[in-house]
Formats: sequence, C-alpha cells, structure tokens
Amino acid sequence: MARVIVILLFAFLCNAQDFQKECMACHQRKGIDLKKIYFDYLLEYSSKRATIKAMQEYLLSPDPSKQLYIDAKPYKHKVDKKSLDKLLEIYWNRYTVIGKIR
Ligand code: HEC
Repeated sequence: MARVIVILLFAFLCNAQDFQKECMACHQRKGIDLKKIYFDYLLEYSSKRATIKAMQEYLLSPDPSKQLYIDAKPYKHKVDKKSLDKLLEIYWNRYTVIGKIR
C-alpha cells in the first residue's frame, strides 16, 4: 500500500514538473496568468471536455476569433498533440483540485 502511494506521488510530482517546464515557465516570464486563463476558459466552455478541446484547438492552430486572452497577440504554441493531451490534463487537474485550497 505504502509503495503504491509513493509511486502515485512520484508520478504526480513528475507531471507537475513537466507542466512547470513546458507551460508555466514561459507564462510566468511573460506574466500571462494560466490560472486566470483556466477560469476564463471554464466560464466560456463549462465542461472539462469542451474546455480541453477548445484549448487544444487554439494552441495547435491559434484562431484570433477564438482567442480568450486578448492582451497579447495570438501565439503559436510549439507543442505536439500528444504532449498537449497530457499537459492539458495536468493543467486541468492543477486548478480543479489545488485551485480549491489555495
Ligand atoms: C514560449 C512561451 C509559451 C509557452 C512555452 C507556453 N505558452 Fe501559452 N501562451 C503564450 C502567450 C504569449 C500567450 C498569449 C497569446 C495568446 O493567447 O495566443 C499564451 C496563451 C495561452 C492560452 C490562452 C489562449 C487564448 O485563448 O488566448 C492558453 C490556454 C495557454 N497559453 C496554454 C499553454 C499551455 C497548456 C502550455 C504548455 C503546453 C503553454 N501555454 C506554453 C506563451 C507560451
């Protein structure tokens, strides 16, 4: 049992690190708040599925008419679909779970 918890914790921390490196680092540097963006998307799209789908479409091929963060010009994110699937899942969990306690 303890071993399972350690493995889960380890996987969680690795994922958090990937997200920090692949997404947060640049956003922090540029002052583009991913937490605010998360809630803007949630308000606009409501469900997890629709939110993640909309983000994925925008990030893979930014369409200015669908951009929610309008304080910067559309940015073409350099990330492939497979890593994006994983990173958006981490992004989603980060603010749905941790967002409630801090
Ligand atoms: C090299 C810098 C950089 C990296 C790395 C980066 N972003 Fe961004 N991101 C931006 C900039 C600049 C904008 C604002 C312009 C825009 O909205 O297109 C943005 C905007 C966004 C938006 C808002 C889109 C909208 O509707 O306006 C989301 C969501 C987002 N990023 C998610 C991510 C995720 C998830 C990752 C990790 C896979 C990531 N970003 C990695 C620079 C970056």
